[in-house]
Amino acid sequence: MKTRLLFFIASLMILIISCQTEKKKTPDKEDKIGPRIDSIVSLMTLEEKIGQLTLYTSDMDQTGAFIRKEYEEDIKQGRVGAIFNAYGVAYTRKLQELNLQNSRLKIPLLFGYDVIHGHRTIFPVPLAEAASWDLDAIEKSARIAAIEATAEGLHWTFAPMCDISVDPRWGRVVEGAGEDTYLGSRIAEARVKGFQGQSLGDDNTLVACVKHFAAYGASQAGRDYHTVDMSERKLREVYLPPYKAAVDAGALTVMTSFNDLNGVPATASKFLMTDILREEWGFEGFVVTDYTSIMELLHHGVAADTLESSSLSIHAGVDMDMQSGFYQTALARLVENKKVDEQLINTAVKRILKVKFLLGLFDDPFRYCSPEREANEIMTTEFLVSAQDMARKSIVLLKNENQLLPLDPKLKTIAVIGPLADSKRDMIGSWSAAGDWSKSVSLLDGIKTKLPYTTILYTKGCDVDGENKDDFMNAIEIARKSDAVVLALGEAFWMSGEAASRTMLDLPGVQQKLAEAIFATGKPVVAVLMNGRPLTINWLDENVPAILETWFLGTTAGDAIADVLFGDYNPSGKLPMTFPKNVGQIPIHYNMRNTGRPFKAQDKYTSKYLDVSNEPLYPFGYGLSYTSFSYSEVELNNTSISENESVEASVVITNTGKYAGEEVVQLYLSDKVASVTRPVKELKGFKKIMLQPGESQKVMFSIGKDALSFYKEDMIYGVEAGNLEVMIGTNSAQTKSAFFSLK
Ligand code: BGC
Repeated sequence: MKTRLLFFIASLMILIISCQTEKKKTPDKEDKIGPRIDSIVSLMTLEEKIGQLTLYTSDMDQTGAFIRKEYEEDIKQGRVGAIFNAYGVAYTRKLQELNLQNSRLKIPLLFGYDVIHGHRTIFPVPLAEAASWDLDAIEKSARIAAIEATAEGLHWTFAPMCDISVDPRWGRVVEGAGEDTYLGSRIAEARVKGFQGQSLGDDNTLVACVKHFAAYGASQAGRDYHTVDMSERKLREVYLPPYKAAVDAGALTVMTSFNDLNGVPATASKFLMTDILREEWGFEGFVVTDYTSIMELLHHGVAADTLESSSLSIHAGVDMDMQSGFYQTALARLVENKKVDEQLINTAVKRILKVKFLLGLFDDPFRYCSPEREANEIMTTEFLVSAQDMARKSIVLLKNENQLLPLDPKLKTIAVIGPLADSKRDMIGSWSAAGDWSKSVSLLDGIKTKLPYTTILYTKGCDVDGENKDDFMNAIEIARKSDAVVLALGEAFWMSGEAASRTMLDLPGVQQKLAEAIFATGKPVVAVLMNGRPLTINWLDENVPAILETWFLGTTAGDAIADVLFGDYNPSGKLPMTFPKNVGQIPIHYNMRNTGRPFKAQDKYTSKYLDVSNEPLYPFGYGLSYTSFSYSEVELNNTSISENESVEASVVITNTGKYAGEEVVQLYLSDKVASVTRPVKELKGFKKIMLQPGESQKVMFSIGKDALSFYKEDMIYGVEAGNLEVMIGTNSAQTKSAFFSLK
């Protein structure tokens, strides 16, 4: 009787609350939902509260039956707050119904998924998108991903990944925006805006999750999940800003990282999850762990058992437990034993309920379950066109000797060779969500569609990996019969991404040998690289006349590459990550410090290697075009400013070639003398402009306090008087300079 009465009151409360939930986010919406959340929490049992802090992966087999019986029971009893890896209107509806029809308080489930670079229409891998330096296009890519994902019942994406990394051995560089803090921050904002849209109250917005907090990209020696030890200066200067930019852009959830940082695993770090994230940055959403991270505190060796690891995490400020089930097992006991104050749990529950409210789930738990949307808003022509546009923009032209590219579409016979030339699966890369690789366009298909009347000869030549050269003769033969060869080389999709670190970054297997054999035919060769990280491709660079970096470009990869190969699109991408000459140079990045003994060729006792130069193969920001651009000298409107003034720097860029083209104009700053050593240069702005042949455009940058501030010797963030060098150019190594001083 008592239970029934309680149930009645609870349902009534929720009904009242639901009816009052507004459709659109209003400035005072968050104030209004506060009391409603409080009233729900006051009705919850401890077990139900802990349920809200519990996230499990989906657990049904293909017939729709639960694999773990207790999982079904957990949902029915309100012991699960969120589920991931479940999508599709029918499936998510089934789970939501199970919850709503059985659980006492009927708090809607939250459905999450790794929607990283598209949901069904797969866009280029994030590192590739970063190479576009096109923030509008990146935002649009995330928007389309959100539309598709929400059309399939999803509420929450585990993206954007904001981990800066200067170590291409780490396979997860494919998921990020590269090595640079400024570029990474702008891209993080664009992705959050794209996912979360105008208002979370709309039915096509996905809640973003900033990951992996923090400094996961610095894992030792590029080995995944490895330890991180770095100065607070480096952490704050280089690694934290992109996460903060994403939080400032409104991201409502943050994921802890697997690594430890200076001796404390992120999932147990109060310094990260509370002091920095909430107290310094004012983050008001919830923190979720990465996959089983609370359990992993045992392996890190900072907790002896389930109770201890759960206690560390909840005290650090971690709200939701992904998959370890430790909160579910331990929190109630910790409360009983007075090791954890229930208030701490209440706070975590409130943060999670708030996100559910903002999504409108209390209003209508099925508002993301529309069969019409699922039928009509997936892989539409419009989305595919946008994906192809994004893919073309993500391609970087690394070399183009004697303007071999674009190839003449009137060539009679073209050989398409290489282990990736006819691959569909690899095109959608790792973390390809619900993408169906069989719908993607291989390079071979793209070329055939573009040139229906040309003779296209294809053979694989070799596998991505392994020693087999049996197809070499065949490859050489078709190369000899052709007017040009397009050679698709690189990594398989699974060679980058999570748990995919490599210590050698050369082309795997016998691919370079294949390239050597094809090159020896004397035919014009274009190398089309497909890979998820910078590679050490010295031989290709020295020998092959034209090289295109195409990463993994998504569903429309083959069409996009064909557009670039045959001149329907002029490449404009720029590398978001340095390409090293060899693995021994790693970490190598453009914004290193000078050292007390800067490199001098004739002086042995300066900073260098005996066996390789300090220079990378291709610097950060590098990328060619079919046209050429000239840069005027840099002009400044002022050569001496005070702290609150700014300098306007300008250059005139002219398209001096024959093709219309886009150029990414890059602004770098160098602080000559400071209280601490400073990077030799730092990216502080960029603009992507389109110029017709012969056309010029003046590009202006305003350099103010934001660009000039850094962590001074006392770790106070601010400016110091001194001399600054302004560098503007086409990549980080090719710039023109002007100087000013800060009084
Ligand atoms: C990855 C996360 C991902 C999570 C859920 C983890 O292994 O590190 O990036 O969001 O799995 O799939």
